[in-house]
Amino acid sequence: MKIIIAENSGFCFGVKKAIDSTQKILKENNENTYSLGPLIHNNQVIKLLENKGLQVIENILDANEGRVIIRSHGVPLSVYDTAKDKQLDIIDCTCPFVRKIQSKVQEYSEKNYQIVIIGDPNHPEVIGINGWCYNNAVIINSEEDIEVMSNYDKICIVAQTTFYEDKFNALVNLISHKGNTVEVFNTICNATHLRQKSCEEIARISDAMVVIGGHHSSNTQKLVEISKKLCNNTYHIETVEELPFDELKRFKTIGLTAGASTPSWIIKEVYDKMSNLEDMNELMKAIEDTMVK
Ligand code: F3S
Repeated sequence: MKIIIAENSGFCFGVKKAIDSTQKILKENNENTYSLGPLIHNNQVIKLLENKGLQVIENILDANEGRVIIRSHGVPLSVYDTAKDKQLDIIDCTCPFVRKIQSKVQEYSEKNYQIVIIGDPNHPEVIGINGWCYNNAVIINSEEDIEVMSNYDKICIVAQTTFYEDKFNALVNLISHKGNTVEVFNTICNATHLRQKSCEEIARISDAMVVIGGHHSSNTQKLVEISKKLCNNTYHIETVEELPFDELKRFKTIGLTAGASTPSWIIKEVYDKMSNLEDMNELMKAIEDTMVK
């Protein structure tokens, strides 16, 4: 069995920065330290941080004193005002790429453009971005959404940073007919772009693909989607315990990739287990050969 690891996989710059800052803060003082929503979509990392004192809250109103960490997905503008009113310290780990989209949306909404966000309406990043244009954005996730979309004089289109590039381009083509002036900003971040391309490359030449990442992680789900298109035997796992050993034994070449919120220690654990499987296969083959002789 041959294992091919995607050239670009695992923690992205924005997630790494948020984790590093949080760990540093908790080390200095872990009293009344909250994260607004789980810091990343990875249960194992969240548990580790909770053990160090981080408290996850779903609403800024649940924190009465101390400091609140804004995760890399960002938050609506109103959250900053609420934090100020409640005299809470904000530790802002919004990814710079997300911040750029928030500023763009704010700027164009002030210029009277209808903001269109291409992305998942339930994803915190999209909800956050919408909060920078008075929650007035039209959110498009599929062609069906465009069919019921109104026409506007001026439209400004942005993308959720983890959106699938090919789908973004296809949706932009359709939305372009809905406005007289249409400004398009492809805000899919480079880390996402590189992870999707690497995933495509190895999925094309693998008999099976293992994609590691949180079951609720949007960017991991996109990698799973891409893998499935190119490789029928795609397995999405969150931890090493979910590796489907019996199934994997059937394949000669297995591709391995991981979402942007998967820490390197989980990738290594999975790789090590799969390498053991490789040794095990060789051992089984040697035994079978001996029996034939
Ligand atoms: Fe930032 Fe892109 Fe990661 S937007 S959080 S670097 S996936």
